[in-house]
Amino acid sequence: MMAEGKPKLLVIEDDEGLQAQLKWAYENFEVVSATDRAGALAALRADTPAVVTLDLGLPPDPDGTSEGFAVLDAIMALKPDTKVIVASGHGAQESALEAIRRGAYDFYRKPVDIDTLGLIVERAWRLHGIESENRRLAEKAGEDKTVLGRMITAAPEMMKVARTIERVANADVSVMLLGASGTGKELLARGVHESSGRRDGAFVAINCAAIPENLLESELFGHEKGAFTGAVRTTEGKIELANGGTLFLDEVGDIPLPLQVKLLRFLQERTIERIGGRKAIAVDTRIVCATHQNLEAMIGAGTFREDLFYRLAEIVVKIPTLAERPGDAVLLAKHFLARFAREMNPKVKGFAPDALAAIDGWSWPGNVRELENRVKRAVIMAEGKLVGAEDLDLAGGDAEAGEALNLKAAREQADRRMIRQALARCEGNISNTAKLLGISRPTLYDLLKQYDMQP
Ligand SMILES: Nc1ncnc2c1ncn2[C@@H]1O[C@H](COP(=O)(O)OP(=O)(O)OP(=O)(O)O)[C@@H](O)[C@H]1O
Ligand SMILES: [Mg+2]
Repeated sequence: MMAEGKPKLLVIEDDEGLQAQLKWAYENFEVVSATDRAGALAALRADTPAVVTLDLGLPPDPDGTSEGFAVLDAIMALKPDTKVIVASGHGAQESALEAIRRGAYDFYRKPVDIDTLGLIVERAWRLHGIESENRRLAEKAGEDKTVLGRMITAAPEMMKVARTIERVANADVSVMLLGASGTGKELLARGVHESSGRRDGAFVAINCAAIPENLLESELFGHEKGAFTGAVRTTEGKIELANGGTLFLDEVGDIPLPLQVKLLRFLQERTIERIGGRKAIAVDTRIVCATHQNLEAMIGAGTFREDLFYRLAEIVVKIPTLAERPGDAVLLAKHFLARFAREMNPKVKGFAPDALAAIDGWSWPGNVRELENRVKRAVIMAEGKLVGAEDLDLAGGDAEAGEALNLKAAREQADRRMIRQALARCEGNISNTAKLLGISRPTLYDLLKQYDMQP
């Protein structure tokens, strides 16, 4: 076999005699060596060795361990899948354990026994191979579960939603997305845009609930210079900015009645007038809207115009809650863990079994957003390689639910228990209870109604 074909082993060792000895000790490997941090990191980048042996006593601290640990940390940050085997001086049990804690694969004691070290290196190499194969398969599986570009799901209910979106994307009809908070409304709205012929135009989002009533009109329709005090220059509204693209009207139920009339006129005539403007401007914008409110009830109560509703709701898509998508919580959790670990804490490699059970058993009242937040916090806080149920703040969650219950009943039971506890703790204050549960106020109202509970 040619040297190039052999796997690479990086030996980081400042004792040149020992280095030469190690260089010839592994016939199955092509050995690359380095004597200090800079050389080690250069070799890591250039040769991407699967296995590294690292002497902890490196210059400028050859009798201590500080430089060795610094190199170890740098390797773990740069290529966390590298198997690092650490050499510790005699009696240095403690530094060996510290190295493992920091992500090293194994350690050996000096003086070096070439045969023993050879076995450790071989085993590390094999493990690295298995892990990268697993990762490859997992990534491939992950790819297959991606729909509409960024949606991750394996649940038939959600696949159906994605199919619907893909089918209607090109039809230029208005789409209304109905779903509880955190179910992915904005992501799906982007999905509509990106699957449509408008994908090269702008995607403009506006949250109608977040903007004070008196500013919303100008935000949507724009204004001419001097139209009102403070209008120092002519400004285009979001509808105009989305010309040729898609406008996402989030929380459309929060648009006040007078503006509903103006929005309806735009949808009928496809022209707008800026505040203080004299001329009608033609705008080609596709509207996607979302709300967690019950618009039909609002129509009944006279707070939402029925004619506007029908204009906005040419296609209505109901988004299932996370609890209604079996298997998705774990699938999404793994996806978020991989992403946050990469971005913020590369030591973290996966979930402990108790975490997976807890994720599966939790009812996720705040849906994907809650899941994303919990995993993010857990990855940041995690001390070891595996995130546990406790890191997710889900320890002891639904453990006592009886076996005879089905999943849905167990979830409902857990919901009720959590809501009851939170309400009690907040003395019935809805805002605080929602905050404590990590869900929005409207979602809490919905749950209270769904479970027929009184605040
Ligand atoms: N199926 C999914 N796959 C991957 N990421 C998702 C999925 N669903 C939601 N997310 C992510 O979860 C978060 C919440 O989603 P999004 O903002 O679309 O929800 P929303 O329904 O608009 O929530 P809210 O009501 O809180 O505004 C986002 O970071 C989004 O990227
Ligand atoms: Mg949203």
